Amino acid sequence: MKITVIHGQLHKGSTYHVTEELIGYLKQSDTDEVYSFSLPIDGPSFCVGCFGCIYKGESNCPHQVKVQAIVSAMVESDVIVIDSPTYCLEMSGQLKTLFDHMGYMYINHRPEGKMFQKIGVGISTAAGAGAKHVTKSITKQMFWWGIPKRYRIPVLVMAKSYSEVSEKIKVKITKQTKKVAQQIHHNLGHPHRDFLQRTLFRLMAMMQKNNTWNPIDKIHWENHGWINKIRPWRV
Ligand SMILES: Cc1cc2nc3c(=O)[nH]c(=O)nc-3n(C[C@H](O)[C@H](O)[C@H](O)COP(=O)(O)O)c2cc1C
Repeated sequence: MKITVIHGQLHKGSTYHVTEELIGYLKQSDTDEVYSFSLPIDGPSFCVGCFGCIYKGESNCPHQVKVQAIVSAMVESDVIVIDSPTYCLEMSGQLKTLFDHMGYMYINHRPEGKMFQKIGVGISTAAGAGAKHVTKSITKQMFWWGIPKRYRIPVLVMAKSYSEVSEKIKVKITKQTKKVAQQIHHNLGHPHRDFLQRTLFRLMAMMQKNNTWNPIDKIHWENHGWINKIRPWRV
């Protein structure tokens, strides 16, 4: 199994530990590979809003080296795990900055076909409120990249650092992460379905047929045969 982990923070606090616990349960053999990125060090600088990625191609992004290193790892992986502490009821700014660079691969632009075979996990911890919203936001991005099977692990740790997290909550974390790891093992290698995503894909195929506003999007869809009956989840 190949796993990409994107930490939406640099420090190794509660969020990091929840993610690491999940990865520990996910890894089954020494041949399993983990590609790990920590933001902002491994991520791009802020999006400058040039539209280069969307209208000229992703290699035109001024931050394409860092963005494409992460995208390549994601494309290689079976499972993509993304975490963030809850900051002011939202994800960390550095994680949002990364996501801003990935709009070009939304279903309505140029999705990467392999995304439709993957499993995604969104993780967040909060002292009291907001973790659910953050995991929902993370998996919403995954939906728009085409990832059909997505899990969320929101944890209210009632603490500002991992050392303050109670044993009771740690037991809960173990239960939650083990359960998600088991479900991922069960689903790995099986085709997943997201009805809404497939409907959206069909609508986008119709839209791309008449696309006069962004030629590179249209060429992408034509080259993959998606404008006709070919679908990325059937390969
Ligand atoms: C700037 C900042 C904003 C925060 N905002 C919230 C919040 O909106 N809701 C909440 O419950 N906790 C909030 N917290 C607390 C953290 O989300 C919580 O302690 C989390 O578990 C920290 O994860 P970490 O140890 O991985 O950094 C905030 C912490 C910081 C530093």
